[in-house]
Amino acid sequence: MTQEHDAVVPIEGSIITHPRVWEASGHIQNFTDPLVDCLSCKRRFRADHLVEAFLEENESTNRNEQINELLHTHNIKCPECGGKLTDVRTFNLMVETSLGVVDGEKRTAYLKGEACQTIYLDYENVRQSMSMKIPFGIAQIGKAFRNEITPGHFLFRQREFEQWDLQWFTHPDEMEKWYEYWKEERMAWYKNLVNHKDKLRFRKHDQNELAHYAKVAYDIEYETPFGWKEWEGIHWRQDWDLSRHSQFSGKDLSYFDDRTKERYIPWIVETSGGVDRTFLFLLLDAYTEEKDRTVLKIRKDLAPFNATILPLVESDPELVAKAQEIYQENRKQFILSYDQKGSIGKRYKKQDEVGTPSCITIDQQTLRDSTVTIRDRDTMEQERVKISHIHEVLQGV
Ligand code: GAP
Repeated sequence: MTQEHDAVVPIEGSIITHPRVWEASGHIQNFTDPLVDCLSCKRRFRADHLVEAFLEENESTNRNEQINELLHTHNIKCPECGGKLTDVRTFNLMVETSLGVVDGEKRTAYLKGEACQTIYLDYENVRQSMSMKIPFGIAQIGKAFRNEITPGHFLFRQREFEQWDLQWFTHPDEMEKWYEYWKEERMAWYKNLVNHKDKLRFRKHDQNELAHYAKVAYDIEYETPFGWKEWEGIHWRQDWDLSRHSQFSGKDLSYFDDRTKERYIPWIVETSGGVDRTFLFLLLDAYTEEKDRTVLKIRKDLAPFNATILPLVESDPELVAKAQEIYQENRKQFILSYDQKGSIGKRYKKQDEVGTPSCITIDQQTLRDSTVTIRDRDTMEQERVKISHIHEVLQGV
């Protein structure tokens, strides 16, 4: 997003933010989830998730009523014990902290509820200092914090997580064009990461599920073992953010176009995805069980290690010394692991499970002719390579 696009500037915003930021963004008032409690077993649920599961199970597309009405119309009960549910209550997701040196005089501050707000705070600084002209973008990867009602599914829904964001600032007349452009770019990017491209799809948000800032929203979803789930949201935020921050800060954030002599508040296309979810979905996508082994068929440049170094037998000090020499030499350039314990077959299998693309084995022949074997994770084929060529082979992976 930053290296391969001319007009995208990266930043890193702060985590602790002034409450005024979240009043301006609308989060204090609107960043809520609908919550229901079971009157019998006292468990707590996200009402929208219960409705969604019910509609999916019954293949209904009626999503346009309010959640409370849908719960009543379909007489939805507690999924754990069948008990009656309370009416829907709303629950604010912002995480509070307090700052100040004197106890009793501390002031409430908030941890970033969505990474993008600090982009809007820095918009004018970035535009001026980098001499950016509309259209341009600001990107960041940053932590976000939410008081989620139902964290779960490992990394999928957490209270502290990492988001990547692009905020693309455009003339209102070009909004549609850029919205479509970034939708396609982002889908192509995700397709490039996964083996199972048929497990990716767009899903348009219904009117009643749109976030307070969005006029249109599409999710890029992945089909996980626990259903189709959001990976990234692409939002048509219009002039909501810059107008509100102008209003609440008293600073004019309109843009003057010297060419057309027009002044306007830029509209925003947002693409916002989860780093932790990416980690989880890539593991799910790559996990493969074959007849005699389990292998993580993750894209080779995303594997945790580029290669592993393995002396054929641990009991031969000459082999171990040579393997160590190769390991120390190449670890300056590549991310390597080293393993000398157990049978070579078991060590290969261990590496297959964590997705290491290449296993480099040092054997008796290495001592005679300075060659090693390199075994490919996917084909399991081995080739003999000169020690001096190892880096070329690893670079090509
Ligand atoms: N600024 C827009 C925004 O925050 P979002 O759809 O709430 O939109 C964007 O979040 C992405 O952040 C999601 O697509 C998801 O990948 C990730 N995300 C959101 N909540 C999360 C959570 N509780 N745990 C892990 N990832 C989360």
